[in-house]
Amino acid sequence: MAEHRLEATVNGREVTAMVEPRLTLADFLREKLRLTGTHLGCEHGVCGACTVLVDGAAIRSCLAFAIQMQGCSITTVEGLTPDSGELTDVQAAFRAEHGLQCGFCTPGFVVSATALLAERPDLTAAEVREGLSGNLCRCTGYQGIVRAVQSVIRSRQAASSGQQAEAGAAQAAGTTQEAEAGAARAAGVAGS
Ligand code: FES
Ligand code: FES
Repeated sequence: MAEHRLEATVNGREVTAMVEPRLTLADFLREKLRLTGTHLGCEHGVCGACTVLVDGAAIRSCLAFAIQMQGCSITTVEGLTPDSGELTDVQAAFRAEHGLQCGFCTPGFVVSATALLAERPDLTAAEVREGLSGNLCRCTGYQGIVRAVQSVIRSRQAASSGQQAEAGAAQAAGTTQEAEAGAARAAGVAGS
């Protein structure tokens, strides 16, 4: 079958490759780019193990053709981790909350949770369950996974209120300094 030239960005790097039209995105990532963190469970759109981000949106890479990704930016689970090698807060929360056992489904869950949290930072537990309902896990009973996502929501909210409090304190300090400067100027005028 004739191959076509594909140009896309994968995990921040420009990629050019010749691909057959029938090659799925999942197979392209795993077999051509050796990004094997994207797993294949059902290969027909049910389990979510193959979830990747395309231009920021979570999609099932077993249901997309690689050639459809022309000009797109793809992020796999490998690309979520910063170059420093530290875990993202979502990855760290999965580890801390025992959100995995065999780990086969975990990349898909981590990618889906990352997209979900970017879209909706204030989800309730029920909304977390609904948002992740397209990913299947045979091992954990989902409790640890939902706990992990909720713990990310809590820690991001705490960090955001801390930043707001700091910004408020800095603004208040600025206002005090301006008031003091005004008082000093007024005293100077009065004394002259
Ligand atoms: S392998 Fe893609 S949804 Fe299951
Ligand atoms: S941890 Fe095993 S399938 Fe999810």
